[in-house]
Amino acid sequence: MSAPAIEIPVIAIDGPSGSGKGTIARRVAKALNMNLLDSGALYRLVALAAAAEGKSDASPEELAEIATGMTIRFSSDASGEEQVWLEGEEVSGQLRTEECGRMASQVAALPAVREALLALQKGFRKAPGLVADGRDMGTTVFPDAALKIFLTASAAERARRRHKQLKDKGIDVSLAALSRDIEDRDRRDSERSVAPLRPAEDARLLDSSNLTIDEVTQTILDWVGDSVIA
Ligand code: DC
Repeated sequence: MSAPAIEIPVIAIDGPSGSGKGTIARRVAKALNMNLLDSGALYRLVALAAAAEGKSDASPEELAEIATGMTIRFSSDASGEEQVWLEGEEVSGQLRTEECGRMASQVAALPAVREALLALQKGFRKAPGLVADGRDMGTTVFPDAALKIFLTASAAERARRRHKQLKDKGIDVSLAALSRDIEDRDRRDSERSVAPLRPAEDARLLDSSNLTIDEVTQTILDWVGDSVIA
């Protein structure tokens, strides 16, 4: 019998747009000194790469080719902010726009694109461990994750947070338009046939509507301490 592969632990954090997954995943990864996968950024990068190549109406096959062919890199700046690079260009600002999120949500509904991004995502699993945030980390990409969390918040609270985030960046969007957008995106992400947004059966649910970022982070770190990861 061959020796079992050394298990590299994954902490999967899934949930809808605006639930705070990104911020929380970054905090948890930092506290545990683990690697980080922002899987939403990969879908955003495919949408951005297609637009940059003038292929906004590309077929699913062309988009899958773009997904496997793109050269990307993640880094952080001096203040610890995540930086994302596409073909040697820093695209973090472009990635976070509402427009890019909308395009990413459409691209993410295509099975060929999801399949094309699978190997790339699994490649982030490196020692000493990975904190992965997205929609299908616990259900599809890392079904063997040591800890699965489904982080949510009410749609109204998520719209309010997103509104504040954009306002702080000097971007003026109406709260009503943002709420509509969040509800549309939730619907698209939950109703698609491949890897829809839903908690894994063995996920722990965490509603962050009335919790601070510190409280959510600490809850997850406590769960990590209770599990086999620690
Ligand atoms: O988390 P985000 O807003 O950056 O994600 C952008 C879009 O990509 C979002 O509409 C859902 C989709 N997505 C996905 O389908 N699966 C993932 N693992 C991550 C994101």
